[in-house]
Amino acid sequence: MVAVTTERSLVLVKPDGFRRGLTGEVIGRIESKGYTLVALDVFTPDRERLALHYAEHEGKPFYEPLVEFMSSGPVTGIVIEGQRCIEGFRALAGATDPTAALPGTIRGDLGRDWGEKVQQNIVHGSDSPESAAREIGIWFPGL
Ligand code: RTP
Ligand code: MG
Repeated sequence: MVAVTTERSLVLVKPDGFRRGLTGEVIGRIESKGYTLVALDVFTPDRERLALHYAEHEGKPFYEPLVEFMSSGPVTGIVIEGQRCIEGFRALAGATDPTAALPGTIRGDLGRDWGEKVQQNIVHGSDSPESAAREIGIWFPGL
């Protein structure tokens, strides 16, 4: 019987994580958790794609620094799959602020505050099924 509850999420290893060589560590945690990799690619995002991805944050004080940061170098885009993987990856990632993120999480173990205008926090993960569908369409239109 086909499982109808499986869901997908869009994960990005952000430019800070990529630069620091943490892509493998992030992928390892996803695989160790038991989620499946569906697609993976490396790209340097342009502003147009980031404007779509971060449309909900347009106009906020951290929007410009965020777009600047996210276009500063390569990112690894990953589509993952598994029951409740959206919630599950958010738990793996930890809180947005890497200083407050709990040890044991990706951001808590690997991230810190660098005194920049925007938090550099290693990874992005979709926050709802609607966001996941929208974001996968932006980064992996062929899927
Ligand atoms: P993400 O979308 O990247 O998975 O992160 P999130 O849901 O935990 O956080 P969100 O509120 O969606 O914010 C998107 C990203 O913007 C940066 N940010 N910096 N006050 C700040 O310095 C600040 N607020 C947000 C972070 O990189 C955050 O992940
Ligand atoms: Mg978010």
